[in-house]
Amino acid sequence: MKYNFDEVINRRGTYSLKWDGEELIKQAGLTERYDEETIPLFTADMDFPVPQPLVDALHKTVDHRIYGYSVFPEEYYTAIQHWFKKRHNWDIKKDDIIYSPGTVHAVNVAVKAYTDPGDGVIIQRPIYPPFTSAIEGNGRQLINNALFYNEEGYYSIDFKDFEEKAKDERTKLFILCNPHNPTGRIFTKEELNKLATICADNGVLIIADEIHGDLIRCDQTFIPIVNTTENPDHIITLTAINKTFNVAGLHCTNVIISNPDLKKTYSEALGFHLPSPFTIAALIAVYHEGEDWLEQLKEYLDETIQYVIQFISERMPKVKVTRPEGTYVMWLDFTGYGITPEEVHDRIYNKANVLLEDGKLFGEEGLDYQRICISSPRPIIKEALERIAKEFEDLK
Ligand SMILES: Cc1ncc(COP(=O)(O)O)c(C=O)c1O
Repeated sequence: MKYNFDEVINRRGTYSLKWDGEELIKQAGLTERYDEETIPLFTADMDFPVPQPLVDALHKTVDHRIYGYSVFPEEYYTAIQHWFKKRHNWDIKKDDIIYSPGTVHAVNVAVKAYTDPGDGVIIQRPIYPPFTSAIEGNGRQLINNALFYNEEGYYSIDFKDFEEKAKDERTKLFILCNPHNPTGRIFTKEELNKLATICADNGVLIIADEIHGDLIRCDQTFIPIVNTTENPDHIITLTAINKTFNVAGLHCTNVIISNPDLKKTYSEALGFHLPSPFTIAALIAVYHEGEDWLEQLKEYLDETIQYVIQFISERMPKVKVTRPEGTYVMWLDFTGYGITPEEVHDRIYNKANVLLEDGKLFGEEGLDYQRICISSPRPIIKEALERIAKEFEDLK
């Protein structure tokens, strides 16, 4: 089946955080202006319809008319095993899969399960903001191994700093984000092996948030960190269908833990959880029949990213942008305009009426940046970029 990702579907009036979330968005301090004309390109979900087999599977569940307590059928596990073996050459044992109602939820459970108040947790800023709240909100100490970048804006890991911080006896956990949000980096096998080795040598556990692992550029490769080391005993991986298939509202993350002791600790901290029949149906459908849609989506996202890069080089050449290797977010450096982050914010959010995410939310390293989510039909992206460019014309 051929999908049309250019189709603009009105999401207003569907309880969408992006399109109906005015109150929450303002409460969170993301913007002062939010109205019917606002183009929201902030939170990471997509304005695209999902694969047809998923729609069919959900219809079947709806049509049954009873939505009671549900259990995980064997097909739930085999669907996960099938997907990760086929796409990532990863053999996952059924017993190593633990369902979680969300990835941020899983990160919080893991922080509480594996560390004590005051313990150190490493993250690599600029980083997805809920990592920070999972650490600080739970009374743990945030240890920042900031990524550094070269002239072209390409981000890399400061391994010397990472090792020093991992060696500190208070450091107990490292939350890896790969592919990395917001920089779009996909770490290489060598980089991941080095991180895994340093952590193993220093008794530091790794929570690997790999939920963007299927959303990569067509010419890129993603390797799960567990496949980069002989002994992944200290690694807990978070996988999900939410980003890949645009079903964040169905709450389906799977935590993969092969170490029996770590599994026991996590399960006890998580407590008893039953799934929704919609979630089960969705996962089985997408992991067996969603690949065709995903491949088409990836091509569309690649073209949009190319479009954005071209537009920026022609119309806003002072903005520095690199092609993200993975994810559908782009990290725009506004330093070139020589104006304050507040003025950049005012021009984009209040004047152009486009809602992005201020880089400062990702840590102080992001102060001069804006994160844009390009996972919308291209007509929406084009209008948003036109509006923004117009507000910067006087600074050319
Ligand atoms: C790296 C990363 N982890 C977790 C999440 C949120 O996942 P969930 O909705 O399953 O909590 C996001 C959403 O943008 C993300 O980018």
